[in-house]
Amino acid sequence: MMEGKQVGVIGGGKMGGALIGGMVSGGLLPASALTVADTDRTRLEELAKSYGVHVTKDNREAVRGADLVLLSVKPQNMAEVLDELADAIGPSALVISIAAGIATTFIEERLGKGARVIRVMPNMPALIGEGAAALAPGSFATETDLKLAKRIFDAIGITVEVKEALMDAVTGLSGSGPGYAFLIIEALTDAGVRMGLSRDVALRLAAQSLLGAARLCLKGEHHPAELRDMVASPGGTTLAGLKVLEDGKLRSVLMSAVEAATRRSAELGGRK
Ligand SMILES: NC(=O)c1ccc[n+]([C@@H]2O[C@H](COP(=O)([O-])OP(=O)(O)OC[C@H]3O[C@@H](n4cnc5c(N)ncnc54)[C@H](OP(=O)(O)O)[C@@H]3O)[C@@H](O)[C@H]2O)c1
Repeated sequence: MMEGKQVGVIGGGKMGGALIGGMVSGGLLPASALTVADTDRTRLEELAKSYGVHVTKDNREAVRGADLVLLSVKPQNMAEVLDELADAIGPSALVISIAAGIATTFIEERLGKGARVIRVMPNMPALIGEGAAALAPGSFATETDLKLAKRIFDAIGITVEVKEALMDAVTGLSGSGPGYAFLIIEALTDAGVRMGLSRDVALRLAAQSLLGAARLCLKGEHHPAELRDMVASPGGTTLAGLKVLEDGKLRSVLMSAVEAATRRSAELGGRK
């Protein structure tokens, strides 16, 4: 699907770098098909050395002749980058943006000519190939464009498609989700230490317990509540712990957290 395609990446930072790594290591396309532009020369040298991709400080050079343009600069740099690229991006190029909060209409208006745009909200574990990304097509993107974008993000985790209006909800759940999980892992670790385990042992047990449980959920064979019933034997230890979590309203607290983060995402994007 990506054979023979030329890809221009604007912004080779943390997320841009993860995407480049995913595409090259995942065998989606040869390193020679990728040109990465960034303002940071040291970063470009690192990317050239790690993956063998072409690099340039000139954004326009990176997108010239590109079939696919990946925009992975910070949201505050998007307007400037789009204005710079508008007449350098070819009319048949697909544009994928991962900039949080930047609407496809914003990109379409600046690029003009019925630009085909797909907006993606990835999350931080994409850096180790365990990301969760939501994709939303703009007004002119096709089914084939969406499939191509899915392939790229499948190389660094899992993907789902959502309507663009739900991108704030995605930001509140999976965008911010790793942050919630780090807090939970840290708290469980402290709890284990409090009960006498060493910190190192407690951290490994806490993190792997969440990872294992998450993998079971992703298998999709059982609802999380069924899985919970399987580990909660009558009168047993897990139910003793679960009772405390229910008393502390963990479920309600998590709902409020996702709601607050979703609202904040909308506020930051000037949608509320
Ligand atoms: N990291 C995440 O977990 C995450 C999750 C979801 C979405 N995103 C989105 O991903 C995008 C990138 O985030 P990131 O964490 O990868 O940021 P980052 O590490 O700061 O990467 C951005 C890169 O773009 C470069 N850059 C800045 N202005 C530029 C310009 N005018 N032309 C070309 N390159 C330019 C930066 O160089 P300098 O360092 O020299 O400025 C930097 O190397 C953001 O829009 C963010 O909303 C990130």
